[in-house]
This record gives sequence, structure tokens and C-alpha cells, in this order.
Amino acid sequence: MIMSNVKKIKILNIVGARPNFIKISPLLTEQKRHPDAIEPILLHTGQHYSPEMYKEIFDDLELPAPDIYLGVGSGTHAAQTANIMLKFEPVLLETKPDVILVVGDVNSTLACSLVASKLGIKIAHIEAGLRSGNWRMPEEINRVLTDRLSDYLYTSEEGAETNLIKEGIVKDKIHFVGNVMIDTLENSKNKAATRPVKQEFGLDHYILMTMHRPENVDIKDKLELLLDIVAGLQYPVVFPMHPRTSNLIANFGLKQRFDDLKNLKIIRPLGYLDFLNLQMNAKLVMTDSGGVQEETTALGIPCLTLRSETERPMTVTHGTNKVIGLNKDAAIESALDILKQDSHRICKKPPLWDGHAAERIVADIIRSLASDE
Ligand code: UD1
Ligand code: UDP
Repeated sequence: MIMSNVKKIKILNIVGARPNFIKISPLLTEQKRHPDAIEPILLHTGQHYSPEMYKEIFDDLELPAPDIYLGVGSGTHAAQTANIMLKFEPVLLETKPDVILVVGDVNSTLACSLVASKLGIKIAHIEAGLRSGNWRMPEEINRVLTDRLSDYLYTSEEGAETNLIKEGIVKDKIHFVGNVMIDTLENSKNKAATRPVKQEFGLDHYILMTMHRPENVDIKDKLELLLDIVAGLQYPVVFPMHPRTSNLIANFGLKQRFDDLKNLKIIRPLGYLDFLNLQMNAKLVMTDSGGVQEETTALGIPCLTLRSETERPMTVTHGTNKVIGLNKDAAIESALDILKQDSHRICKKPPLWDGHAAERIVADIIRSLASDE
């Protein structure tokens, strides 16, 4: 028997929040296709822990249970980031990976990157270089700092490289590979199409809404504005509500007013396949989610982003996204305009949103780490 004595690349894959699970799925699958070259480990910080924010998404994506679970839970930014760092450091010392792989822009992404960089462990950042230019967004802080600490920066949009170079990142570290979230979507579309979720919730024609950004839901006035927008739409709206949003609506004493809206159906956060099904069948999606802006573009479903800017400009220039802010008149006018049209807008998919981003990333990691030995 020929024994290979080539050292495997140990990759510690980090996830913390719902969109991370969706992004890591194709990366993990691809790593497992190279058992001779890669030893993958999956670590979940526990930033998201409720069954509908974690387990249901893992099940839908057939992700294995994490090898390591830090169980950090919720907290203020400082508490959550610090807890992750404290719990992650001994794990990193013990597992000694060749590289940690972080995705997106959540607190878990930055916390683990900080720990790894101080211990001299390489960092690969997936979805590098996206910039909203809005420094009040916690995610913008996480993005800029994670990119600064990273050794391999994998970008999903062409403009991300320009953003990184402007910040002084050397070009050699940047690799334009495409969008792993769209890999997952392409892998899951057929399965999602068979889900009986519309029947389950009694839906026919509807607008799909998601809203969870602090700038929109942490302020009572903004939630009241959202109430006015939904009432003004006079069209069925289904709203799988993020726990951050439901908690704040309850704390502000607004629950009854939301419940009283006749055209609004609030439901719990959905599993990935059910939510994808609802996106595929929606007349329109209204959101402040990053991932949902990308998925609607890939699906060709009209999207109105209720934020004042986007870090994903390709969804506007190539896709179906229109960024309108949390603005009542603009929201109602734009929505009615879209609802009047018979068919969905045809869109071009952004370059490399082709379902093969994970393959390009894993091939590059193998190439880079083998040559770094
Ligand atoms: C986090 C990310 C955000 C991402 C979102 C994806 C940061 C700074 N923010 O925001 O970029 O878009 O995840 O969904 O990392 N909660 C639960 N159960 C859970 C998780 C959270 O009930 O499983 C509630 C808790 O009340 C918690 C609140 O939601 O305090 C906010 O959770 P947190 O992880 O701090 O931020 P998100 O708003 O989820
Ligand atoms: N999503 C989901 N169930 C829901 C709402 C969203 O599975 O009820 C998926 C969605 O399809 C996308 C991801 O979660 O893949 C987006 O995550 P989220 O909006 O929480 O975070 P963001 O992308 O804004 O960071």
C-alpha cells in the first residue's frame, strides 16, 4: 500500500450566526471532497442558538453537528465579543489549525480573527471587501477589522477589491472567487421548490418581509414607521420575524399594533428551505438583510432594501435590488409599482455567482497553504 506522507491542511471553520451557516455549507462540502489534502473542523461559537436560528438551518443544509461548540449566547457587543475570544483562545491553542476560515461580518467573525492573529495563525476571510461606508453599523467595523487581520481575502463582488486596495491591503492577498451564498442557493433550489410552506401558512400572492438591523428595529419610532409602511401597502405581507425584532417589538409595547394589522402575518424565523421557497414565490421582497439582497438578485425576484445604503452594490447594478431607506412614501410607491407589473424583472447574475465559489476557494487554499509550507 502506498502511504501518503503529505501533511494535511487543518482548517478550523468558524460559524456563529444564521447567515454563517448558509455560507459555510458549500465550503465544508468542498473541503470534504479533498480528504487527502484537508482536515476540516467545524466550530460554532453559539452566537445564534435558538432552534429556529441554528438547528433547523443546520438540518436543512445537512450540516454535521459542530465539532466544537462554545455556547457563548447573546450579550452586548463587548460581552459577546470578549466571551467568544476567551472561549476560543484555548481551543485554538489545542487544535493548532493551519488556518481559520471565517465568513461574513458578525461578531464571531471578528472575535475569532482577533484571537487567531495574536497567536500567529493564518486567517482566510470569505466575503471580504464589502463596505457600506456606514461606520455606525457593527458589521462595518467587523468587516474592516477582519479584512485587516486576514491573510487570504476572498471576495464575492468585483468592487470589493477596489475597497480593499484603498485601505492598503496588498493585491496578492485578494482573490475574486464569487459568492458562496449563491452556491448554497443553487444547491438547494430544487429541494426548496417542493416545500409546502405556502399551503402551511395559507399564502397566495404576498410580499415577503425581513427586518432585523439595529438601525431599523432598535428604535421605537422606526418600528412605528414600519407599521405605517405595512398598513399602507394594502397587500398581504408575510414576515418571518428575527428574535431581535420580536423582542424589541414586545419591549416597546408595540405587539398589539403589529398583531392588529389585517394584511400582516408574523411568523417565526423559518428554516432555510422554507424561507427560500417563500423568496422564490414572492411578488416582492422587502428587507434589510444582506444575504436576502443577494438571494433575490440570484432568483430574479424584485427586492426593496429598507436601508440607506448597501455594501452589496452588484445587487443594484446587476440585480433586482433597489435601496430606498426606511421611507414610507418611497416604500409604498416602489412596492405598488412592482406589484403592478405582471412578471418579475429579468436580471443578469453578477460575475462568478455561478454556484462554484467554494470550489475556487478550497482550490486556492490548498495551493496557497501547500506552497507556504
Ligand atoms: C447578528 C449579526 C448581524 C446578522 C444577524 C443575522 C452581529 C453584530 N450581528 O445580528 O450582522 O445580520 O446576526 O441574523 O454579529 N436572539 C435569540 N436567539 C438567537 C440569537 C439571538 O433570541 O439564537 C436574540 C437575543 O435577544 C439577542 C438578539 O436576538 O440579544 C440579537 O442577537 P445577536 O446575535 O446579538 O445579533 P443579531 O441581531 O442576531
Ligand atoms: N433566512 C432563513 N430564514 C429566515 C430568514 C432568512 O433561513 O426566516 C436566510 C436567508 O435565506 C439568507 C440568510 O438567512 O440565506 C440571511 O440571514 P440574515 O438575514 O439573518 O443575516 P444577514 O444576511 O443580514 O447578515
